[in-house]
Amino acid sequence: MTSETVPFVNLDHMHDEIAEEVDAGLSEVLRSKAFVLGPQVAAFEQAYAAYCGVQHCLGVGNGTDALELALRASGVRPGDEVIIPANTFVATAEAVLRAGAKVVLADVDDDFLLDPASVREHLTERTTAVVPVHLYGQMAQVELIAEAVGPGVAVVEDAAQSQGARRHGRRSGSLGTAAGTSFYPGKNLGAYGDAGAVTTGSAEVAEHLAKLRNHGGVRRYEHDVIGTNSRLDTVQAVVLSLKLARLDRWNGRRRDAADRYAALLEGAPGLTLPRTAPGNEHVWHLYVVQVEERGKAQAALDEAGVGTGIHYPAPIHLLPAFSYLGGRAGDHPVVERQASRILSLPMFPGITAAQQEWVAEALLNVL
Ligand SMILES: Cc1ncc(COP(=O)(O)O)c(C=O)c1O
Repeated sequence: MTSETVPFVNLDHMHDEIAEEVDAGLSEVLRSKAFVLGPQVAAFEQAYAAYCGVQHCLGVGNGTDALELALRASGVRPGDEVIIPANTFVATAEAVLRAGAKVVLADVDDDFLLDPASVREHLTERTTAVVPVHLYGQMAQVELIAEAVGPGVAVVEDAAQSQGARRHGRRSGSLGTAAGTSFYPGKNLGAYGDAGAVTTGSAEVAEHLAKLRNHGGVRRYEHDVIGTNSRLDTVQAVVLSLKLARLDRWNGRRRDAADRYAALLEGAPGLTLPRTAPGNEHVWHLYVVQVEERGKAQAALDEAGVGTGIHYPAPIHLLPAFSYLGGRAGDHPVVERQASRILSLPMFPGITAAQQEWVAEALLNVL
């Protein structure tokens, strides 16, 4: 086999495909000077709402803001408790804290997704929201989680890693009270800078959110509530609309790549491959295997010119920033065991069969 260098992600091929249209779209923004909440933002919001199958989409500055504002607009107040999985990116926990609420961590299932039984264990009369994180590109069991918490508790999806994913035919971002998503450049739907959005089927949540993101009001110098400044740039909306039109095709390529990894790596000793949970259509934001001797495997892949990642090296309760929660090793056994074994392999729509064969060969050698 010829040696290949395989980056962990490569956004070139997506950019090349839209480059000319991006240039034209950006020229139009520069000409109009509608840099903030220009008409391209509303156009993208409409398109993304329709794509997700919800009534409302509001563009915001980034995914962390999207989650914070979605929680606030869904009724989370200072002093409330919000349940999140212990294995998420730190932003999910930050968003809860910035909404003034207490972070309550729960464990996950074998697919890395929030476990409804663990949610039930952590439910108290102060719980006002739960955040299922659709980690790595597939959706958590939102319907069972909603059932576990009951009708008085908001379900706010963290859809940052799952644009386009479906569960029982319904898109990520359409199953909860509201959802926050991130268009950070490396996401399946990535902008050319920071960007995010909230989707919701609730007119009330959408109305509140439109104010929260824009200094508390929708008209200049009218401030009905205490808000903030978190709006989607017009420039980012241009890029996102162009990419949204191609998202299903690009996600299809990710699925093909996941199938190829599975065929190449199936049955390898000491290796657990990720699976698609029943009812889900996965969009493979990340392809995360589990391997006992992770350090050795990662070093061997690095040696072979293959980029890898660990998402995430430490669960939230073992991060120094969250030590004040009093969490200890052993609190969330499934999350902790996964954290010591997970390894993300290169995954992006333009990855070639030869590159994947090279990754597999390097990994199988070390196993
Ligand atoms: C699961 C998850 N939640 C939240 C975020 C926060 O998004 P952002 O980086 O756009 O603030 C990210 C991505 O970075 C994420 O992966």
